[in-house]
Amino acid sequence: MDVTTSIIALVVLAVAYIIASLSYPMLAGGAAYSPTPREIAAEALTLADLKKDEVFYDLGCGTGEALIEASKVCDHVTGVEIEPIRWFIAKLRARKAQVILGNLFKQDISDADVIFIFQYEGRINNRIAMKIKAETRSETRIISYWHRMENMKLVKSQNKIFIYKT
Ligand SMILES: C[S@@+](CC[C@H](N)C(=O)[O-])C[C@H]1O[C@@H](n2cnc3c(N)ncnc32)[C@H](O)[C@@H]1O
Repeated sequence: MDVTTSIIALVVLAVAYIIASLSYPMLAGGAAYSPTPREIAAEALTLADLKKDEVFYDLGCGTGEALIEASKVCDHVTGVEIEPIRWFIAKLRARKAQVILGNLFKQDISDADVIFIFQYEGRINNRIAMKIKAETRSETRIISYWHRMENMKLVKSQNKIFIYKT
């Protein structure tokens, strides 16, 4: 293989991986990647009144924006991400958080006080809502950025940040 062919092969592989990394989360029942702006993540955590001794999860943590902000406030921060490159970046960036490579639908969240999600309304958020209702305590607060959740009590909202309780 000459140099030009090798470069073309590498570019094709890189493009194929990027396409796969965007579509794979959707096959696993979640949203593709779009990061929450850091100032919005900080605002969401203030709105949800996250406290130091509470347990925080970001289900589908991407590259770790909400994890970094949550780690400034709270000692028990966990992110779950299904896509390996984003998981690795989140692990490098959110050093104080536990960052798990896995499927959010398989994560034990029974100890959660605050859960952050930025997924999609409709079928995906409904499925996540069912999991949260089945596994968490009634006082658990759920932050959904951008998309609303059905069958949950809306407690507060501002700037496309929706805070719910089950
Ligand atoms: C819209 S992004 C939000 C990223 C991050 N929470 C933020 O707000 O910056 C959604 C993320 O969820 C991840 N995801 C989708 N389905 C998932 C699943 N079933 N398990 C774990 N992560 C998932 C995607 O790979 C993507 O990184």
